[in-house]
Amino acid sequence: MSQFEQQDELNHPRHETPEFTQMIEQGGLSRRRFLGAGAVLGAAAFFTLSPMSRSLAAALAPSGSPLLGFKAVPASTADTLVVPEGYQVERLISWGDPLFADVAAFSNRLSDNTAAQQKRQFGDNNDGMSLFPVDEQTAILAVNNEYTNYELMFEHQGKNMSAADVEYAQAAHGVSILTLTQQEKGWRFDINGRFNRRIDANTPMRISGPAQGHKLLKTKADPKGEVALGTFNNCANGMTPWGTYLTCEENFNGYFGTDADLEISSEFARYGIGRKDAGYSWYKFDQRFDLSKEPNEPHRFGWVVEIDPRDPSALPVKRTALGRFKHENAELVIAQDGRVVVYLGDDERGEHIYRFVSRDTYNPTNQDANRNLLDEGELFVAKFNEDGSGEWLSLCHGQNGLTAENGFANQADILIHARQAATFVGATTMDRPEWVAVHPHEPMVFCTLTNNKNRGVADSQPVGGPNPRAENHYGQIVRWVPTAGEHTAKDFQWDLFLMAGNPNLYGGTPYAGSSNITADNMFNSPDGIGFDQAGRLWIQTDGNYSNQGDFVGQGNNQMLCADPKTGEVRRFLTGPVACEITGLAFTPDQKTLFVGVQHPGEKGAPSSFPLGDHTVPRSSVMVISRTDGGVIGT
Ligand code: FEO
Ligand code: CA
Ligand code: CA
Repeated sequence: MSQFEQQDELNHPRHETPEFTQMIEQGGLSRRRFLGAGAVLGAAAFFTLSPMSRSLAAALAPSGSPLLGFKAVPASTADTLVVPEGYQVERLISWGDPLFADVAAFSNRLSDNTAAQQKRQFGDNNDGMSLFPVDEQTAILAVNNEYTNYELMFEHQGKNMSAADVEYAQAAHGVSILTLTQQEKGWRFDINGRFNRRIDANTPMRISGPAQGHKLLKTKADPKGEVALGTFNNCANGMTPWGTYLTCEENFNGYFGTDADLEISSEFARYGIGRKDAGYSWYKFDQRFDLSKEPNEPHRFGWVVEIDPRDPSALPVKRTALGRFKHENAELVIAQDGRVVVYLGDDERGEHIYRFVSRDTYNPTNQDANRNLLDEGELFVAKFNEDGSGEWLSLCHGQNGLTAENGFANQADILIHARQAATFVGATTMDRPEWVAVHPHEPMVFCTLTNNKNRGVADSQPVGGPNPRAENHYGQIVRWVPTAGEHTAKDFQWDLFLMAGNPNLYGGTPYAGSSNITADNMFNSPDGIGFDQAGRLWIQTDGNYSNQGDFVGQGNNQMLCADPKTGEVRRFLTGPVACEITGLAFTPDQKTLFVGVQHPGEKGAPSSFPLGDHTVPRSSVMVISRTDGGVIGT
């Protein structure tokens, strides 16, 4: 369990044990067997009811997808990135590498590294990323830098924090914008590139949309509630057709705390904000993170931030119309009528999937006219029904009982407290929604539900619908098709594209996974997903890498490739020790793939990736291509 998840449990406990579980445990029955039998029935009913799943099962061939042309790699526990035969991998950039020619290099003697340098070096824990082509020889890669691992960052491992240490950690968060150029050996980072930029936890950014200037966003430093300082815990991402980058603030709650005897409101508790932080100690040295000093500062985080990667002087903009929660990514698609639809996951056990629909339409001939499309529109939250249907519930003020009498004063109030509004209207609690990806040629949407140990355990999270397994530690991918293929439609049909599992251990039960999961491709905890132009679905994992117990045979975290038509899943790469694989971007010719390796060697695991030779393990972006120069995946 990550430090963020631990903190969520601490500040917002939801693991009350239902009565029936107590009965089983007191009676000495096997909990696992009980849950297994119950869930078998549930899954069988699901597959009978769902027409899409039936057709998927019928079409599923054991192998031979026309989309998947590479040879699968086996599961691995090695401290290296393994790619298929005929592929090559190079390092693009790692945490601490200079983004400018006059900046010092990262030092393996940790005390040498400073905040001033880190502000102009590649940030830590790279996550989601997007590629913006500039010309034939130039591109921009915008990369999120999600968080820091104090045990790898400081010789004292975070046990003896100082103000300077906090400043250094803050500088390692945010976004790195890299100029790439086409060089002799392929696409590489250009340290003299004109787009190079760092955005960190102290970079000024504009607050826009309905919550701009709201009283809950006002602080001593910003009495108007219009300019926030920084962005952090930037998890996954999105990009717009008007050329901007979307970076999504996820576990922002972990950075706030207080030593004062402060009573925590239920509003804060719902977001996991409490007196205890996730161990970062920012609040001890920087007053704006102390809840007793700046009680509104946490309202200024948990947003989607829009960045113009082509203008290093442009202020990033927090788009409050997209709601405040623990954002995973922001998958944007233009609907048939020209409106902008953004699909959004809220990654916490029992939280929800959202959809934003813009008021105005996209203008393909005047990109400047699109700059504020994400400020006006309607936010919805998903409700999944047992019969395979689903609907989008409006979070518009005045609708579905979201009124002042019920505690929602206006639209800004709803957006700041999107989670409470979603619960109020009856949204479905999900198994940790991670990335959403829209098929490039068909109106089909996929969302990873990474895992949820509380499913069927917490009363608020019953087993059923797209969350069919109790104590779900393998995860699944839900898929939906909007009515009439229109992303603005009120309704949709859903099924499960896959359920991860371990067929070696749990054959004949839902914990074996769906029929497209085999001993050769099994994994747990799907997280990052994205399509290439041909419609291959790429799946990245952030799961249990112990290779033991329920996870035996699955090895290190990995990246797989699936054919959405046949359902076939094939393992494409395996990562180094204790990493997660997260973030992907293709060049327009589909011949180069950038992939992120995050937190190799976390929690003291033995890694020295990527440089080896007992160096400090460092999160890195890797460049993958084929030795014959062909298209990736074919
Ligand atoms: Fe940052 Fe939900 O992963
Ligand atoms: Ca993730
Ligand atoms: Ca994750």
